[in-house]
Amino acid sequence: METKHWTVSQQSFDKKAMEEAASLLSKGEAVAFPTETVYGLGADATNEQAVQKIFEAKGRPSDNPLIVHVADKDQLKDLVEDVPEVAYKLLEAFSPGPITIILKSKGAVAPNVSAGLDSIGIRIPSHPVGLRLLQEVALPIAAPSANISGRPSPTKAEHVVHDLDGRIAGIMDGGPTGIGLESTVVDCTEAVPVILRPGGVTAEAIQEVIGTVMVDPGLAGGEKEKPKAPGMKYTHYAPEAPLYLVDEEMQQHADKLTEAGEKVGIIATEELAQMLQSERIQICGSRKDLSTVAEHLYDALRHFKKSDVSVILCESFEKHGVGAAIMNRLEKAAIGRI
Ligand code: TXA
Ligand code: MG
Repeated sequence: METKHWTVSQQSFDKKAMEEAASLLSKGEAVAFPTETVYGLGADATNEQAVQKIFEAKGRPSDNPLIVHVADKDQLKDLVEDVPEVAYKLLEAFSPGPITIILKSKGAVAPNVSAGLDSIGIRIPSHPVGLRLLQEVALPIAAPSANISGRPSPTKAEHVVHDLDGRIAGIMDGGPTGIGLESTVVDCTEAVPVILRPGGVTAEAIQEVIGTVMVDPGLAGGEKEKPKAPGMKYTHYAPEAPLYLVDEEMQQHADKLTEAGEKVGIIATEELAQMLQSERIQICGSRKDLSTVAEHLYDALRHFKKSDVSVILCESFEKHGVGAAIMNRLEKAAIGRI
């Protein structure tokens, strides 16, 4: 399939590009667009065949539900049964922005969006280009991250081109995404809201707004509890070479592996990188501000190619604030910890 490419600046929206992309979406095609977290691969959430194109292009398991993106809170009443007080508070505080709220579905979207669940995830992205496209199309748009399933999510249009060019109808380039990790998914169908996926909005920030929030015990990866967001059980974010998380003594580990004949790539913050001697270091933000690590993480995971490295070592972080989301992704991407 021929993929259309548009480049749209965040200041002056290209009207023609917006209309073309919106028209393809209305006709049931899948189109990638920028959000403030990662690029999404969108399709009309009310059109089962359109949604099927997302699953096919990504190679996504059909039991993993999709988040529904809307431009405005007013669209909620068509999609969900009722909006509990806590959900309103979260929407007030963080939407448009990197949060997804799970609510009881009214059944207005195609069945393959919810993958058999009676709930639905709703998100209003704040990226000016993504939001403008949603306003233009005026339909609920189902959109997972615009990557081949299992690979790191795309934070630049070139990542989407790499994974999906020729497989989807269009790719809208609106520049790098900014936050760099997916939205925080909060289940508001229970009396006490539960974080199903840590993300752009921290648990600490949510607590300040609604008092209590739980974290899905399944996220800890224990044997007993399964994660409640179906997507959290799959292998994810995998770079081309095996990845290990390193808690300390990065130089010694890299040297040992090099002596054993491995070609080692290192992902490190600028502070650690300064202290290392290695031919292949990819700098990923600063320890002084972990949001910069989040911003560059997926690009760093995509940086090292199979042809250049046989193993990747990545610095690890404490699970506070945005560090919780960073480590959630890294622990899924890694095959081990040393
Ligand atoms: O930031 C984001 O959320 C990005 C951008 C494109 O908006 N989207 C994204 O979608 O990350 P995706 O499909 O890669 O991840 C959606 C996650 C999965 O873990 C999925 O299982 C969970 O949300 N999810 C979606 N609907 C759900 C539901 N009704 N109940 C429980 N979990 C749900
Ligand atoms: Mg994804």
